[in-house]
Amino acid sequence: MKPTTTSADWIARSLRSVWHPCTQMQHHEEVPLIAVSHAKGPWLYDHEGQRYLDGISSWWVNLFGHANPRINAALKDQLDKLEHAMLAGFTHEPVIELSEQLAALTGQQLGHAFYASDGASAVEIALKMSFHYWRNAGHADKQEFVCLQGSYHGETVGALGVTDVALFKDAYGPLLRAARTVTSPDARNAVDGESAQDVALRAAKDVEALFAERADKIAAIIVEPLVQCATGMAMHDPLYLQRLRELCDKYHVHLIADEIAVGCGRTGTFFACEQAAIWPDFMCLSKGISGGYLPLSLVLTTDKVYEGFYSEDITRGFLHSHSYTGNALACRAALATLQIFRDDDVLNKNRETATRLMLELAPLLDHKCVTHFRQRGMILAFDAVEPDTQRASTFARRFFTSAVENELLLRPIGRTVYLMPPYVLDEEEIVGLAARTRKVFEKVIAE
Ligand SMILES: Cc1ncc(COP(=O)(O)O)c(C=O)c1O
Repeated sequence: MKPTTTSADWIARSLRSVWHPCTQMQHHEEVPLIAVSHAKGPWLYDHEGQRYLDGISSWWVNLFGHANPRINAALKDQLDKLEHAMLAGFTHEPVIELSEQLAALTGQQLGHAFYASDGASAVEIALKMSFHYWRNAGHADKQEFVCLQGSYHGETVGALGVTDVALFKDAYGPLLRAARTVTSPDARNAVDGESAQDVALRAAKDVEALFAERADKIAAIIVEPLVQCATGMAMHDPLYLQRLRELCDKYHVHLIADEIAVGCGRTGTFFACEQAAIWPDFMCLSKGISGGYLPLSLVLTTDKVYEGFYSEDITRGFLHSHSYTGNALACRAALATLQIFRDDDVLNKNRETATRLMLELAPLLDHKCVTHFRQRGMILAFDAVEPDTQRASTFARRFFTSAVENELLLRPIGRTVYLMPPYVLDEEEIVGLAARTRKVFEKVIAE
């Protein structure tokens, strides 16, 4: 009989051959690697059957649970029809239907979809399209990009140029084309009794000053609407987005909404921008759009931008491509995902789930080591008060390890603990997730 391969075997082999992302590999001498054997709903299982509640949706991608029967069925059906065909010179049903459905979700404001695979590629596309649009329009001087303090738009060289997270960016500084950075509207920056709206308006003034000075050189400003996730779930008031839209219109600067993490219902509306009642010139989507199944990203844009490239002259066209652009399987997973949104009244159900989670986490509100308890849709976060810098620097790792011991997958960002679970938690899972989060926090803060 073939001996069963244990988690320990897989882990040893992985550490020898797989270079894991966003990881100082030496940390795995202390922090356990987990070998996932299979997954179902919000649960990941290792080879011994030990389970972990995926409290961060496997890096914010999974919406309707792992091995979702409806997405699985759609993919199995698609697999027998067409797995992939190149999208230059060819087209197919899943990519057409997905583009049409997304355009409809924007009320036809963003009626043209350009596809890629990962989030960072979508960001690259939006940046290049904006620059090229202005060049085609006779404004070749508009070459600069503006991003927000604490912004995160991905790890490729262009996306890192508009990212402001020192840990990811600094080592590559000499490679990057620096963007201009404006004040973050993070509501935690409130001073002297300011409201979140006051902070938003103050931050927008910074944008206005920059635009007034050099809008003729600026192609676009890129923003993560409502929640800057990777910097630590920094949340801002929708008023900021309204002001950005006004300023972009006034000064002829493109607005790029990076909804890679916050789109697909994560903040309570399908698109985060809806809460500000605005549409950007470019919207980047990825992560949840395929239900967390397959790498799929896209940029939605306006008729105006599309027409700026439409010409007899090939060089005025957008000559960008990726081999897997518009992959049929990934698009079919996205169609199944959108169907679930329509069938299951997802946004309303999420409102109930988020309210229940808040209620169950409420005891933390008065905890002396908790500050800035906050929530937007299906993102809940709080910051640990940890004055000892040595302990603060290890907080995230210690929390992760303790969470794993309590059947949870949670990865704090610095001292920010957050929950961003799949949309399929039942009552027992909601109560369990909140109770264990509290238990882990109490333990780690008291260590
Ligand atoms: C807002 C935002 N933009 C871009 C990205 C990059 O996406 P990917 O990791 O798929 O390249 C991320 C990933 O976390 C993100 O949160």
